[in-house]
Amino acid sequence: MIFSDSKFDWLRSDDIRPYVFVRPENRIQSPGEKHSIDWFPHKPVYKNPLNMSELGFGDRILFLEAKAFGPSGMAMPRWVFYDCAIVPGFVAGYAARTKSLPDVVKKALMVEEDEEWTPLSLFIIIPTMSRAGEWVAHNLCSVNTLLEKKDRFYGLGFLSKAFGLWYANVDTCCGFTQWGNPAVKLHAYYGEFEVLTAYTPIHSHARTLSYRVKVDPSFWPRFFTKKAFEGFDDKYQNAGFEVDPTDDQSLISLQTKLQNDEGPFFLRSQEVILNGLDEALPVYRLK
Ligand SMILES: CC(C)(COP(=O)(O)OP(=O)(O)OC[C@H]1O[C@@H](n2cnc3c(N)ncnc32)[C@H](O)[C@@H]1OP(=O)(O)O)[C@@H](O)C(=O)NCCC(=O)NCCS
Repeated sequence: MIFSDSKFDWLRSDDIRPYVFVRPENRIQSPGEKHSIDWFPHKPVYKNPLNMSELGFGDRILFLEAKAFGPSGMAMPRWVFYDCAIVPGFVAGYAARTKSLPDVVKKALMVEEDEEWTPLSLFIIIPTMSRAGEWVAHNLCSVNTLLEKKDRFYGLGFLSKAFGLWYANVDTCCGFTQWGNPAVKLHAYYGEFEVLTAYTPIHSHARTLSYRVKVDPSFWPRFFTKKAFEGFDDKYQNAGFEVDPTDDQSLISLQTKLQNDEGPFFLRSQEVILNGLDEALPVYRLK
C-alpha cells in the first residue's frame, strides 16, 4: 500500500481533510466520478468564499500563497484571487483542524486559533473555453516550503493537485511554471506531459514553461515509487533534440518549432523527475 509508510501518517489523521473552497454555483455535481483511484476517501470540508463568515479561511489561503510566491514577485493580489480564481473556478487542498496543529506549523501559518480549519495547501483550478474539458492549473503551494524537513507533510503539494484533478473529473489540464523550478518535477507526474510553450515572453517571466497534461491517475503512484512508466516508448519517439532549461536560445528554438507546427512535443516524466533541474531534457514526439 503506497501510503503505509510513516511519512504519510498525516494523511490518515482524522484532523486533516481535503477541502474545497468553492462558491455554490461552481460545485462539481459528481466529484471523483471520472478517475477511479481510492486516494481520497474522506468527505471534503466545504467552504463558501462568498460567505463573510469564511473570510478567515480565505485569508489563510492568501497568506500561504503570499509566502510561497512573494519572493519571486508573483504573489496574487486579492482581486485576482476573486476575479480569476474564486468566481470562475475553485480552490482545493488539505486543511487541518487548527487545534491539532503543532506549534511550529501554527507559527509558520500565523493561524487564527478561533478558526476550526486551517488550509495547509492550495490548488487553484479554473475551467477554460479553449477546448472541451480543458482546465487551467493556476496556482499550487504547500506549507511544506515554510517548514523544516522533519515537520513537513510528505506529498502534500502533489496530493493537493491530485485531489483537485480527481474531484473535478479533469481530463486535460494546462499549467505554467518556470524552467528550473523544482515544481516542474511534480507537474510532470499527472499524465502525459506536453510542452505548449517553451519560451513565453508575454508572461512576467519569459522563461515560463506552459504544459498540457492528459490526466491519468495510473501515473500518480510513480511520483512516490519513482518506478519507470511502462509503455512510453511504444507511443513516443525521441524527436532528435534536447531542451536545455538554462539556455534561452534552446528554449526559443523549441518554441519556434512549436510555432511552426512541428509539434506536439512531450517530455518523459521519468527524466523530468530524475534529471537535475539544470540538465538538458530529451524532447519526444508521437510515433
Ligand atoms: C511546489 C510545491 C507545491 C510542492 O509541494 P510540497 O508539499 O513541497 O512537495 P511534496 O511533498 O508534495 O513533494 C515533494 C517532492 O516533490 C518534488 N518537489 C517539487 N517541488 C519541490 C520543492 N519546491 N522542493 C523540494 N522538492 C520538490 C521533489 O521531488 C520531492 O520529492 P522527494 O523529496 O522524494 O525528492 C511547494 O514546494 C511550493 O509551495 N512551492 C512554492 C510555490 C511554487 O513554486 N509552486 C509551483 C508553481 S508552478
